[in-house]
Amino acid sequence: MGLKLLIHEGQKEFDILDVEDSYTLSERRVLRVPPVTLEFYDAGRFVGFVELDIRVFNRNAYITFYVPREERGKGYGKMILQLALEHARNEMNLHRLTAEVYEYNIPSIKILESIGFELEGRLKEAKYHSGRYWDILVFGKILNP
Ligand SMILES: CC(C)(COP(=O)(O)OP(=O)(O)OC[C@H]1O[C@@H](n2cnc3c(N)ncnc32)[C@H](O)[C@@H]1OP(=O)(O)O)[C@@H](O)C(=O)NCCC(=O)NCCS
Repeated sequence: MGLKLLIHEGQKEFDILDVEDSYTLSERRVLRVPPVTLEFYDAGRFVGFVELDIRVFNRNAYITFYVPREERGKGYGKMILQLALEHARNEMNLHRLTAEVYEYNIPSIKILESIGFELEGRLKEAKYHSGRYWDILVFGKILNP
């Protein structure tokens, strides 16, 4: 049997999806909200941000964090992640945070472990960098166990 293939650029909305489909499809298929970015300043100086890509129904956020190069190694990375975690728990009412980190990103791994994130999984050879594949480590933290 030959199937015909059509190609659509970008996400396509299908009006055939019903509530039962939402049990199995990714939440992003059903609801897409813009990320929330927490910015941090020390005496007026920008020292980093934490971006939360939120899954509303699951009360989970995928986090990305960044400290400007000239501010690194001073403890800001750990500080902003800890503050973001508390804000996510106490103000945003999130249930968990997820961070995906490349296996060679040692400072990030150290910070996540030091504030109680657990290594939950490994996406094998999911990152291409410097001419070879590396694993992506999946870290998670339940905020209100
Ligand atoms: C990862 C990042 C946020 C760390 O910020 P930072 O302000 O330098 O972090 P801290 O000063 O809080 O240090 C965190 C830990 O890493 C260690 N560390 C810092 N630089 C390191 C390096 N080059 N190699 C090994 N360890 C290092 C620190 O000693 C500290 O560990 P400790 O608490 O045991 O002493 C920063 O490097 C960055 O923005 N990198 C680019 C973006 C990125 O990687 N984001 C994360 C993925 S989403």
